[in-house]
Amino acid sequence: MTTAESDSIRALTSVHADPGVYEPQEDSLLLCDIAATTGIVPGARVLDMCTGSGAVAITAALLGAREVVAFDISPRAVDCAERNARSVGVEVDVRLGSLAEAAELEPFDVLLCNPPYVPSELPPTGMGLHRAWDAGEDGRTVLDPLCRASADLLAPGGVLLVVHSEFSGPHRTVRMLSDNGFSVTEAGRQTIDFGPVMHRRAEWLEARGALAPGCRTEELVVVRGDKR
Ligand SMILES: C[S@@+](CC[C@H](N)C(=O)[O-])C[C@H]1O[C@@H](n2cnc3c(N)ncnc32)[C@H](O)[C@@H]1O
Repeated sequence: MTTAESDSIRALTSVHADPGVYEPQEDSLLLCDIAATTGIVPGARVLDMCTGSGAVAITAALLGAREVVAFDISPRAVDCAERNARSVGVEVDVRLGSLAEAAELEPFDVLLCNPPYVPSELPPTGMGLHRAWDAGEDGRTVLDPLCRASADLLAPGGVLLVVHSEFSGPHRTVRMLSDNGFSVTEAGRQTIDFGPVMHRRAEWLEARGALAPGCRTEELVVVRGDKR
């Protein structure tokens, strides 16, 4: 294991997710590992959008980011991420808000995001834990605005890494970012078993033809955009 990979493991195992805050999972770890192995973080000014417990932001700080700013719309997540950063002993500027608030602090060198991306029958409302995954019918309530905002948030040469499920249209992210001045590649992919949320969505996804009958695995896809 490289030092960078062990930094991300260390961050993930030392964060505690409060009730109502997303517990870091395979998607969090995949994003942290890719951020670590690509070598884009040391010395960079990093934005972690949708920070939850702060696991990704803390990993970026451990990897040697020059500065880390993290946003979440959940006040519980903001408190939790602040406390986790303190207990790990790294500096992360955790703020309540989203893309509009982050735009006031641009430009960043690196934008990391593990957003809500699970398709849901209704658009997400309220402030419960479901906001960590529910992302509207196409799974893109955060992904589409993120794709639109990324070019303005990043400095020239800046890099975006964003997590998807295969059910939230990674190909659409590729198209939107390409149209918006990015060179786009797939940075990583991992097949995982359905968790409880996806199990509850499975029949609905099957009925829409989005999921093969009986299949209970999904592919996580991390898309990388390099701003030209
Ligand atoms: C899948 S969790 C990821 C948490 C953490 N980054 C990780 O990888 O473990 C998604 C997070 O996005 C937050 N969120 C949902 N909609 C958001 C939005 N529009 N802007 C910022 N954060 C949002 C949720 O509160 C939740 O903490």
